Amino acid sequence: MKEKILELLKERAEFVSGQEISERFGVSRTAVWKAIRQLEADGYEIEAVRNRGYCLKSEADVLSEDSIRRVLTTKWAGSTLAVYSEIDSTNNQAKRMAEEGAGHGLLVVGDHQSAGRGRRGRAWDSAAGEGIFMTLLLKPDILPGNASMLTLVMAMAVRAGIAQVTGLDTQIKWPNDIVYTSVHTAMQDPSEREVCDGRKVCGILTEMSAQVDCINHIVIGVGINVHNESFPEEVAQTAVSLYQLTGNHVSRAVLIAEIMAQFEHYYDRYLQTQDMSLLKQEYNAHLINTGRKVCVLDPKGEYTGTAGEINETGELKVTKSDGQTVWVSSGEVSVRGIYGYV
Ligand code: BTN
Repeated sequence: MKEKILELLKERAEFVSGQEISERFGVSRTAVWKAIRQLEADGYEIEAVRNRGYCLKSEADVLSEDSIRRVLTTKWAGSTLAVYSEIDSTNNQAKRMAEEGAGHGLLVVGDHQSAGRGRRGRAWDSAAGEGIFMTLLLKPDILPGNASMLTLVMAMAVRAGIAQVTGLDTQIKWPNDIVYTSVHTAMQDPSEREVCDGRKVCGILTEMSAQVDCINHIVIGVGINVHNESFPEEVAQTAVSLYQLTGNHVSRAVLIAEIMAQFEHYYDRYLQTQDMSLLKQEYNAHLINTGRKVCVLDPKGEYTGTAGEINETGELKVTKSDGQTVWVSSGEVSVRGIYGYV
C-alpha cells in the first residue's frame, strides 16, 4: 500500500486528499494515515494539511532491493540482492550466505552495520542513512594467489563510479582506499604537503575462503562515506563524505548500480590475464602514492621509502632510502604517508 501511495504522491507533486487516496486504493482513511507514517519512518518528508491532504516534500535516499534493482544495469554483479536495514557486517553476511550456497554476483547491502569492520581489525563507522555498506560475493576460477588484486579492481570501479555519478575526480591510495585531494601533486616538502588534503572517501575490505589451489569464495566489502555531515573524532581528520565534497546528496542506489557496472567492466579485463596487465596503466594514472614518502607496515618490520607505481601483479614499488627496491604485496601490508594519511 505505501508503495502505491508513494507513486501517487510522486506523480502529482502536489496535495492529494486522504479521501481521494482511500477511494482510489479501496482502503480506510486510517490505513492511508498509517501508510503515510510508514513512509515518514522510511525517511520521506510528507506535509499533511487539514482539508488539503498529503504532499511529498522531499525524497529520502531509501536503500531497498527495489530502489537498487530499478537502476541496476549489470549482467551478473548484483543479480541476487540481499538488502538489510540493519546487519552486523555485510562481509559477514555475504560469507554466511556463501556457505549456505549463494552464488557468484550476490550483493549484500546494509543501511546500517552494527559491527562494520575495517582493515587491520579496526571498526568501520556505519551509521544508518549515511553511507554505502555493501559486499560483493565472487566465486572465481582463479588461483588464490591472484585474489588480492581484486581489491585493486574494486578500487578502480569505485573511483570510476564516483566520477560518473558525482563528477568528482578521486584517487586511489594503494591498495584499498579512495581519497580526495584538492592538490594533485607529489610534494616532497612536508609544510607544502599539509595543504594537500588527502581524505578518505571509501575503504575496501577483501576476504577469501580458499584451499591450497582453489578458491571457495571471495567477499569484497566496500564502505563509502556518502551523506555524512561530520565524523567521529578518531577519523575526523582523515575522512570526508561525498556530500561534504560536492554539497549534493547523491542517490546511494544509483551509485551502487554504477559501481557494479564499472566492476563488471574492470573485472572482465582482469579475468583476461588474471592480473593487472590490462589495468595497471589506468590504475597508476589515478594512484595517489606515487612519488610520496611512505611507511610500509610490514608485520616483519616497518620501513620507509618512496612509493612508485604498481606492476602486473598489483604490487607497489617502494624504493628504500639506500636505493633498494621492494615490491610490496597488498595481501601482506599497508602503507601510510609519512607526513599524513596519504
Ligand atoms: C578499511 O578501509 O579499513 C576497509 C573498510 C571496509 C568497510 C566495508 S563496509 C561494508 C563491508 N562490511 C564490513 O564490515 N566492512 C566492509
